[in-house]
Amino acid sequence: MNLLILGDIMGASGRKALTTKLPNLIETNKIDFVIVNGENASDDGRGITQEISEEFFKIGVDVITSGNHIWDKKETTDFIEKENRLLRPANLVSGSPGRGYKIYSSKDKKFKVGVINLMGNVFMKKTEDVFKTAKEICNKIKLKKDVDFLVVDFHGEITSEKMAAGHFFDGQATCVVGTHTHVPTADTRILNGGTAYQTDIGMCGDYNSVIGMNKENSIKRFFKEKDAKSHFPAQGEGTLSGVIVETNFETGLAKKIMLKLFL
Ligand code: FE2
Repeated sequence: MNLLILGDIMGASGRKALTTKLPNLIETNKIDFVIVNGENASDDGRGITQEISEEFFKIGVDVITSGNHIWDKKETTDFIEKENRLLRPANLVSGSPGRGYKIYSSKDKKFKVGVINLMGNVFMKKTEDVFKTAKEICNKIKLKKDVDFLVVDFHGEITSEKMAAGHFFDGQATCVVGTHTHVPTADTRILNGGTAYQTDIGMCGDYNSVIGMNKENSIKRFFKEKDAKSHFPAQGEGTLSGVIVETNFETGLAKKIMLKLFL
């Protein structure tokens, strides 16, 4: 069983790269389950619409995770209630629409795959305690009892918080990947307890940019120039960034994790 997990899909460039490359990637790499972080997939890089979500599911995405931009499009609060395959962070304030974790089936329906979406507490929007939430969910979804495999998308700004989460889940999840910074880290590895881990799996979008946003405008903003506009996505060709995780059915843990950049 192979998992493909792709980082934040950024604007139209990210969507185009996903649409043109994903079907072939699934076939060539014998992928059984696909997770993408979709919270920047809208044209302006803020939020995701129902139409975009459906387009992703049609081309082979099984679950869309998110983070701090989940509510940027008004419609999301409605359609997330009906769409189980779109997750919001599990540690949003209680009573938030939608869900933060769920158990799904692999493409061939042979395996149960749990997916948990969390959002860091440091330098992020105010949410419930992420580690407390992680522990509560961990007590509810047990690897090899409730699910065959368990994936965690930890959407966060700082590396230490994500790494601590990786070690917390070590041995209890198939893999823990970080999203949100849009820059892939070089620490792809399997932790001591068998959980695959990478601090950030990067962005799917135009890398000739400042984390996916138009670079000229971004520089202007940093220089506080008067004609600087609100950030908007770079429009060049997109690269997909993420990991492929080969799993061990006996243990539910990871055999191998590879960082992949699909140009
Ligand atoms: Fe984010």
